[in-house]
Amino acid sequence: MADTLKALITAEEIAARIAELGRQIRADHPDDTITVIAVLKGSFIFLADLVRAIPGNVRVEFLGVASYHGGTHSSGAVQITQDLRSEIRGQVCLLVEDIVDTGLTMDYLLRMLEVRGPKVLKLVSLLDKPSNRETSVPVDYVGFTIPDEFVVGYGLDLGELYRNLPYVAVYSP
Ligand code: IMP
Repeated sequence: MADTLKALITAEEIAARIAELGRQIRADHPDDTITVIAVLKGSFIFLADLVRAIPGNVRVEFLGVASYHGGTHSSGAVQITQDLRSEIRGQVCLLVEDIVDTGLTMDYLLRMLEVRGPKVLKLVSLLDKPSNRETSVPVDYVGFTIPDEFVVGYGLDLGELYRNLPYVAVYSP
């Protein structure tokens, strides 16, 4: 297993960057309760660390999405497997994603959430793979910009495996 994984971003680098992101997000919205909307499943570990790095009031919501269906290439089709449990009208919302690749998933979700009338709707992604973009997506906060490689770990999976790696690694078959 180990010979197919090459560390790209260490646990220490991730922790340091998330501390910065948390401070920046709060500084941009000093007085608001922030509704953090985690896109499942890939963002669950990033979410857990990010919310603890944002001082002040935060609400957490989950949005279940399936887009890769176990492979390493985006199908482009976005399937909602679990919707939000509460309204977001008038709220400052932060969509939390693990990685923006083609941009198709975030493009779909941002449109879907925008019509529900949030006061603010921003996007934070731990990873950004801009070279693979098929549609332009405004990523307000980016943890790390990475090359066009398939990565796993820190919540990101390949066929549901590797989510538990504490760092981000490039997977090569
Ligand atoms: P997009 O719609 O192509 O931007 O892809 C969004 C989703 O594809 C992400 O939320 C991930 O679940 C998955 N994805 C894209 N690139 C990778 C990768 O390198 N590793 C693991 N999952 C990925």
